[in-house]
Amino acid sequence: MDISFLKSVSVEDVGSVVVVVTTKDGASSVVDRVKSLIDPGCVDAAFAAMTDFKYGSVEGLTSVSTGVKRELLVVSSGDQALFSRASFEKLGGRIFDSISAKDAKVTILNTVESAALPEAAAYIASGISLKSWTFDKYKAVKSDQKVSSIMCETAYVDENTKVMSRLDAIRDGAFTVRSMATEPANVMTPDQVVEEARKLKSLGVEITVLDRRNMESFGMNALLGVGQGSAQSSYTVVMEYKGSKDAPIALVGKGLTFDSGGICVKPSNKMGEMKEDMTGAAVVIGTIEAIASQKLKTHVVGCIGVVENMISGHAQRPGDVVTSMSGKTIEVDNTDAEGRLVLADVLWYACEEYKPEIMIDVATLTGAIQVALGHEFAGLFTNSDELAETITRAADVVGEKVWRFPLHPSYEDDIKSDIADVKNVGSGRGAGSITAAMFLKKFICDNVQWAHIDIAAVSSDSKGRALSQKGATGFGVRLLEEVIRSRYVN
Ligand code: BES
Ligand code: MN
Ligand code: ZN
Repeated sequence: MDISFLKSVSVEDVGSVVVVVTTKDGASSVVDRVKSLIDPGCVDAAFAAMTDFKYGSVEGLTSVSTGVKRELLVVSSGDQALFSRASFEKLGGRIFDSISAKDAKVTILNTVESAALPEAAAYIASGISLKSWTFDKYKAVKSDQKVSSIMCETAYVDENTKVMSRLDAIRDGAFTVRSMATEPANVMTPDQVVEEARKLKSLGVEITVLDRRNMESFGMNALLGVGQGSAQSSYTVVMEYKGSKDAPIALVGKGLTFDSGGICVKPSNKMGEMKEDMTGAAVVIGTIEAIASQKLKTHVVGCIGVVENMISGHAQRPGDVVTSMSGKTIEVDNTDAEGRLVLADVLWYACEEYKPEIMIDVATLTGAIQVALGHEFAGLFTNSDELAETITRAADVVGEKVWRFPLHPSYEDDIKSDIADVKNVGSGRGAGSITAAMFLKKFICDNVQWAHIDIAAVSSDSKGRALSQKGATGFGVRLLEEVIRSRYVN
């Protein structure tokens, strides 16, 4: 999608026209300009129809003048007090939904830009672009492209162009996540995930792939136990982007290319969705892509555990005991609580090898997080109030919401094992997402500020969200890019 910013668009370039307004007065200030671009009668009718100026209100009309069909949308951005990146990106998503033309050139005129928020147009364009993503690789009949280009008329061309190059990088990272998550598990195999990580090499990211033998030598038996029933190989992949000499921030991701549940097999209903159980790893790849392609001056290390959880004569059994890289022994009471086993070793490895200042893991870890939060918020668990604040603030900026849960020692009894140092599931009922996080906490080294983000209920949506269609959302890239930027880049 081609996105451009111009001081003044020319009539010949105009396709569909979107006018963003706040109030009736604000709207009247652009009427003449709009009339110079599109059939004036249509403009009067659309503006007259617009009576409600609350956020997201849309009035649309299609004009046919001199044989050319053009669509006009008048959209309200609501009260100025609501103006933010998140509100304008969401408005972009709303605009995308409201456009009915196919393969449309969209021209955006906005009355809402000001020196206080000169980049409003870029945020709107970003929202349209994010919402436009679809996956039709395996369909003979491809879906029509609804928006082919966006041209924004703005007094702040330079500001918008600059912000847009950043938003483009972030969007591409989010799209990487969506396609990796949407690809079926017979395509997005562990080997393929490794290939996806290797693509970051072209951006100056250093890639290290640990195979089974390497991981055996590190003693990563918790991870290897999960993969031992599969015909696919298991890997830990490290992606290092060294844009500064600071201590790194480590991003850790759960990369289960398929989670059958193992011997504790999942019900067949919706088991297919478990092809998306590598989304945490994809978020790490997508975030590093976004950061490296912007050449941010920051040091990030991504570590992902890439494994398939299958059933076979080689599969690990409930009751097995494994010794993790940390030395702690784990009773595998439930083979379906595999993500935490994989993360236990990858978190420990990241701490040991890279001594990060901050470590954030992202994982589709528990079904229970959906019970707690539904599809609106991701679960946040952290040992640091400061990091909680950084992440929560970034979440507000980008509109990828998080809610903090307790990581209180009182939950620890629940994962005590009779035979090993710890058990991979809770004994009691309830708080499944918290006991999972308590388990991970045992594999964090001292002095690291660590956060775990459980994205199991936000990584994919059966209906579609403000900025994504039904299916994979890419949740996490926009959030983590903002966390890293706000923490490390001035
Ligand atoms: N990958 C699942 C969690 C999940 C469930 C993600 C639904 C997305 C949608 C995870 O490995 C899992 O199976 N968790 C179990 C844990 C239980 C056995 C303690 C769960 O949530 O049921
Ligand atoms: Mn599982
Ligand atoms: Zn899983």
